[in-house]
Parts: sequence; C-alpha cells; structure tokens
Amino acid sequence: MSALDDEARAILATNDRGGYTVPTHGLYPYQWNWDSVFAAIGFAEHDMERAWVEIETLFSGQWENGMVPHIIFHQVDPSYFPGPDVWRGIGPLPSSGISQPPIAATFVRWLAEKDGAFAPRAEALIPRLMDWHRWFMTWRCERGAIVVTHPWETGRDNCPDWDGPFAAIEPEGVEQYYRRDTTHVIEEERPRRYDYDRYLYLVKLGAESGWDEAYLRQANPFRVADPTMTFTLLRSCRDLRAMAEEFGLETAEIDGWIKTMEEGAELLWNDDAATYDCYDLRAEKHTGVVSNASFLSWYAGVGGDRMMPHLERITGLEPFFIPSTDPEHEAYEPKRYWRGPVWAMMNMLIARGLADAGHGDWAGKITENTRAMIAGNGFAEYFDPRDGAPAGGRNFTWTAAVWLAWASATTGEKLWAA
Ligand code: DGY
Repeated sequence: MSALDDEARAILATNDRGGYTVPTHGLYPYQWNWDSVFAAIGFAEHDMERAWVEIETLFSGQWENGMVPHIIFHQVDPSYFPGPDVWRGIGPLPSSGISQPPIAATFVRWLAEKDGAFAPRAEALIPRLMDWHRWFMTWRCERGAIVVTHPWETGRDNCPDWDGPFAAIEPEGVEQYYRRDTTHVIEEERPRRYDYDRYLYLVKLGAESGWDEAYLRQANPFRVADPTMTFTLLRSCRDLRAMAEEFGLETAEIDGWIKTMEEGAELLWNDDAATYDCYDLRAEKHTGVVSNASFLSWYAGVGGDRMMPHLERITGLEPFFIPSTDPEHEAYEPKRYWRGPVWAMMNMLIARGLADAGHGDWAGKITENTRAMIAGNGFAEYFDPRDGAPAGGRNFTWTAAVWLAWASATTGEKLWAA
C-alpha cells in the first residue's frame, strides 16, 4: 500500500501550481472550488501548512457579494474552454460566475481538529465562510432547498437529473465554439455536444447580466433544487456552527439557516420514487433519479435511514459502487462522466455521513470497495462500476487526496472503527 501512498503524494505535488492545485494537468488547468478543498485534506496527511494555504487561496477569489467561484483562473491556459473571457466573472480575480458544492466549512473543521495549532487559521476563515453561506441563503434558497442556475455548479455536470430541464431550453445565440475537453478525454466519457450547447447558453445568460442574481432568479430557465448543494451546505452549516461556538462567536444566524434547510430538504424528497432527488422549480416536478448525491442525506443529518433500501439495492448491482446514476435507470451510462461512473470523493462524503449516523459497517464497506477500485485501477477521475476501469482524467488530485485522507489502509482515517 505504501507505494500507492507515495504515488498519491506525488500526484498532489505534480498538480501543485504554488498555493493552489489543479484537478489534473491539461483537462482542468485552473483552481476548481471543491477539488481544491479535497486537495487540502490530501495535503493534510503530510503537510498541514500547505493544506491551509490551498483553502486560503480559494477564498482569495471570493466575490464582494460572498460568492466563491467554481473556477479561479489564476493563469490563462488555452487548453481549457470556456475561459475567463467567456465567463466574465466580477470578483477580485478572473473567475467563473457560479459556485460549487460548499464543502469547505466541514473540511476546515476537520483540518482544525487534526492539528489544533492551526486553529487561528480556521478562525480567520469563519467570516469568509459566513459570507459565502449567506450568499447561498440569500440568492439560492427556495422553499428551504438550495437551487442551482447551472449544472456545473453541482459538480454533477451531465447527470440525468438535467435531462428534463435541458429539454425545455433552446440554446439560442450561442456562438460557434471549440471544445477542448475532448482533446484530453475520449468523447464517450464526456458530456454530449447537446449538453455543451446548453452549458454555454447558461453561461452567456449569466455573463450578459453581469451575474445579477436577482435578475437570474427571474430569468434563468434552469433553476433546480439539488441534493449536492443542499446537503453539503446543511452539513457545512452544522460544522460552521460548531466552530463559531468554539471561538465564542454568535451562532443565531447559522441556527436559522440550519432550521430552514432541515425543513427545506423535504422539497427534495420524492415520495413516488422513495428517494431524495432534484426538484425542477421551473417545471414544478421531481427529476426521478437516484444518484450518488441522494446518499448524502446522512452526511447532512436528515431523513434518518430513508435512503437505506436504495443503498442496499444499488450496492448489489455492480461490483464497484456508488454509481453516480442508478444502474436500473434508463439513462445509466457506466462510462459517461456523471451518468453512471463511480466517483471516489463522493464515496468519501457518503461513507463519512454513514459513519456519523452510526452505520460504521456501511462506511467500512464503501471504504474497502473504493480502496480496491483505486488500488486496481489508479488515481483516475472516475471509474466504471462494472469493472472499475479508469475513466476521464488521470493522475487526479481529488482521487489522490481522498486516498491519503480516507481510502488508504495505511494513511486513511478509519471511519468504521469509530
Ligand atoms: C468541465 O469543464 O467539465 C467542468 O466540470 C466544468 O466545471
């Protein structure tokens, strides 16, 4: 195992651009929001100082309105599209105009607990985290759940949850463009052209409005309440509250957010399919997909064991789990990005939630499965659930990071032993 630990550390070092880490060379040459936060817990295994710097660099791109962008373009790189000229972010650094799953508060708390000597770094980040969470609660909270205005915001770019909302969008006015992603990864493992047309249409809409959230709330045809966002923000609010209390800070505002989202999570509960899924606010309907994000309910601390029947069913369908889309769903594609493949970092969050809810046995099962998948197939971006075959980018930062922090038998945290 230790050879793999060394390999994981080497991947982080290779992807380190000085203060921030790219997800992988070529395909993603900038700082991505939640990739970076995962990178931090990977660094924390061997270099705490570097771990904190990663998160501090991310927050150096925070907008005045509190939003923390999903991409920060520190140095222009033609190997990626769409770049800063298309996004036209309005922050202190060139950036995209949307955010990403807000896992940072939870990870900051983990880092602070790992080595108390760094507590002042956590304390200094609290106002930044508060501003970011307040941005979500002000602009993106509808009926208590967190909505997105672009699929890229959830990280689950092309999952079948967007098929319904996308069918209702006519991507008019998108100029001719050249994708770069398919020069790095084969087309069958990436989103379709149809999806890209709509991704770019939504970027154009936001950029032309100057990323005016009040306008987008009315005008954006894509407005979907999402479990990734709602569950990670709820969990992060709980962790932010714990840190605020420890530092003797006021917690009433955070308490309000937690209460709102605990109630609002109900909007994501699809009674017919007995699952958490997305809720399309424009069409007023559930998307009807059991995804790996559905299983973040334990991580958020909502719903008790409501998702257990699907967990038991889905983990019995393919050798490697948790697939990003239910293999029994008609849209399942085991090699295409978020339409089927397994994502190791999602598994870490799911396992963590299960362990916290007292399901150490399940956390252990997911950990061992992920360990075998990575050990047998390398540090890929994602994996085919049928045989674990690597897919997407290689030498991937977050896969290496969750290996070091969690999945490795030698360096990982033993969640199931708790
Ligand atoms: C991409 O370019 O595929 C990214 O996921 C967008 O954030």
